[in-house]
Amino acid sequence: MTTSKSSSHSKLNEGKQDIQNLIEQTDNYVLNITKRIPLAFVRGEGSYLFDKTGRPYLDFICGVGVNSLGHAHPRIRAVIEEQSKKLLHISNLFYIPEQSQLAEMLIKKTSPGKAFFFNSGTEANEAAFKLCRRYGQEAKQGASIILSLKNSFHGRTSASMCLTGQDKIHNGFGPLISEHQYIAANDISALQKKLTSSYGKKICALFIELIQGEAGVHPLNKEYVLQVRKLCSEHKVILVIDEVQTGIGRTGKLFCYENYNVKADIITLGKALGAGISISAIIAYNETSSYLQPGEHGTTTGGNPFASRIAQEVIHIIEKEKLLDNVTQLSDYLFSRLNNIQSQAIKKGFEHSLIENIRGIGFHIALDLKCSALEFIELCRHKGLLLNATSSKTVRIMPPLNISQNEIDKGIAIMEESFLALENKLTKKIG
Ligand SMILES: Cc1ncc(COP(=O)(O)O)c(C=O)c1O
Repeated sequence: MTTSKSSSHSKLNEGKQDIQNLIEQTDNYVLNITKRIPLAFVRGEGSYLFDKTGRPYLDFICGVGVNSLGHAHPRIRAVIEEQSKKLLHISNLFYIPEQSQLAEMLIKKTSPGKAFFFNSGTEANEAAFKLCRRYGQEAKQGASIILSLKNSFHGRTSASMCLTGQDKIHNGFGPLISEHQYIAANDISALQKKLTSSYGKKICALFIELIQGEAGVHPLNKEYVLQVRKLCSEHKVILVIDEVQTGIGRTGKLFCYENYNVKADIITLGKALGAGISISAIIAYNETSSYLQPGEHGTTTGGNPFASRIAQEVIHIIEKEKLLDNVTQLSDYLFSRLNNIQSQAIKKGFEHSLIENIRGIGFHIALDLKCSALEFIELCRHKGLLLNATSSKTVRIMPPLNISQNEIDKGIAIMEESFLALENKLTKKIG
């Protein structure tokens, strides 16, 4: 007993030393452009990640919406092995059967159109940006203005950063692409005013996220989105729906637009499409697919046989394991458990709950807190649950699509304990 206690203690100390060494190595050799949590993992299995000491962490971050099938899914491992014995990369100079099959698969699940593949979400949006500009030049008398929504996030490369409607992403990198404007989300008159203004005819496209994910998981209003679709069609403005974070099952539908009963002219995909292998896509519907000509855009590694084969398997798994149903059912359950935590605080005699608001669709959920989101997620992390904060007061919850109810219960129990600890510290008890 004493021996096993002291051996687990020394394992813990070893783990602490390892992370200190790793932090030092990272500080010395990696550009200091991201804030990191002082944790490193050596493996993952299903909904769990494990550090070097073997401690499990329930993963409700999923690599920011990428690891939608959890970690080390047996079918993904098998397909990785199989495909790695055949071909990894060949370039788009040749025909790539895995890529064409993936394109067919995706198109048959959406609407008639054509797909092209890249490596990251921002690259897919850069491609969409260029396609919209080509459309403006060719079909709308040189129209070049692209609109996007305030508080949106579309990536960090030059054009995508410009599409992103957040000053903190632009600061220090100006001047931005000049022909660009931001409009308020859920305000149809803001769009109408732009389209009917003196430069309305110069507008070629509008980019939207149906759920503004990085801004704190804010779903757009359904009626607003329907009106947006109508106005874009009337004014010959290409509607681009960025499904990089919402696509491939996160909301309980393969594509989030299915929740809105609306069709885009272009969608972009990334993150969960490869479930951990880098691949992203643009899908251009109907005639929008004809505006980019051979040589006008491209990529060296995008749509390689390896990533394309994995993405096919991701979609097969979602279908075979009925993961969209799992998300829909367990999302209702998760929401009801979160609502319960919110109402319990008052029942336990606290003045108010630390949860101010719960929102989202499917497994794309956020909590606005009345306390520090960072303090809350740190407490959860110490208890073995990984969550991330999109701002100082907002926590995002993104479990894998194949999580079980039992694992959700474990995550909820940790959140409940953490809220109780913070309520005891921060909130007055009445009576
Ligand atoms: C909606 C949306 N679009 C684009 C991106 C950029 O994707 P990537 O980081 O893969 O370039 C993100 C990343 O969070 C995103 O949430």
